[in-house]
Amino acid sequence: MPGADLAARHKRYRAAMTTALITGATAGIGAAFARRLATDGHNLVLVARDVRRLREHATELHDRHGIEAEVLAADLSKDSGIEAVEKRLGDPRAPVDLLVNNAGFGQRGAFLDVPLDDELVMLKVHCEAVLRLTRAAVARMRERGRGGVVNVASVAAFVPRGTYGASKAWIVQFTQGVARDLAGSGVRLMVLCPGFVRTEFHERAGLGTDNIPSWMWLDADKLVVAALADLARGRSLSIPDPRYKALMGAARLAPRGLLGGISSRAGRKYGPRHGSADADAAQGADASADPGSGSGSGSGATV
Ligand SMILES: NC(=O)c1ccc[n+]([C@@H]2O[C@H](COP(=O)([O-])OP(=O)(O)OC[C@H]3O[C@@H](n4cnc5c(N)ncnc54)[C@H](OP(=O)(O)O)[C@@H]3O)[C@@H](O)[C@H]2O)c1
Repeated sequence: MPGADLAARHKRYRAAMTTALITGATAGIGAAFARRLATDGHNLVLVARDVRRLREHATELHDRHGIEAEVLAADLSKDSGIEAVEKRLGDPRAPVDLLVNNAGFGQRGAFLDVPLDDELVMLKVHCEAVLRLTRAAVARMRERGRGGVVNVASVAAFVPRGTYGASKAWIVQFTQGVARDLAGSGVRLMVLCPGFVRTEFHERAGLGTDNIPSWMWLDADKLVVAALADLARGRSLSIPDPRYKALMGAARLAPRGLLGGISSRAGRKYGPRHGSADADAAQGADASADPGSGSGSGSGATV
């Protein structure tokens, strides 16, 4: 009976599907991970704060690809938000096979200009949440003898770059260390280090992008395809683009003092933040203070 055959095939197909949980799934790189994984037939758990955007995204992915897309609204700067995601990752009735710790944000300003509370929120989202969610996920994955974790850091991890770069450097070291600890367990961990990607990241942080050359920009969908290919190859570190691989190779050889100077200057130039008059003022002051700045708009070179 063709109907029964189709139903059986559909059931087998569903059984072979895996579930991926993605944090920061409403925009940018996280949304690109969701699109790619849904296209490949994986069920999804989408995590972010904006529940309306989460629902819209989940409905669209379900309708387009026929996958199940759960919505989990959680603020990863709060214990309650981290706990809610830990709980979902630990649910034995609905195992998560792939965790993508992607939620994150940038900050504008030199060290003493950034309020301490904002720095602490960054550490909570970039480090504590990544630590706790990775732990919750891999504990279950190791029991099942399979699973994967992708932690999204940045090439900023490899240059002196304030709390943002330091938090991303922590993600690199942490992920590669845990990957080593779990080698042979069937659980893979990989840290993804993108360069500049066209997303909402810079606008949200009030970082200008006018001075970033067009060749440095990456496309989020292509980045995700390359990252998933690196995960399948068993890499623990993914710098997906050849241009950035070359740049990071050069950065490893360059003196730390030189790198610190470049990244520190870049970090003091800002673009306008939506509806912020002080951003424009800061931008003008920064551009005039920096002899290397050839334009009135800031480069805000955080990646
Ligand atoms: N774009 C780049 O050039 C670039 C380069 C290197 C690395 N990265 C890294 O890539 C990751 C994704 O950035 P993106 O460029 O895709 O930025 P984006 O477009 O601004 O998206 C950020 C995502 O994170 C979520 N998010 C932010 N704070 C959160 C919180 N407290 N709790 C839960 N979710 C939160 C946002 O959703 P809600 O607002 O709905 O919560 C959104 O879905 C970040 O870790 C970033 O550091 C970006």
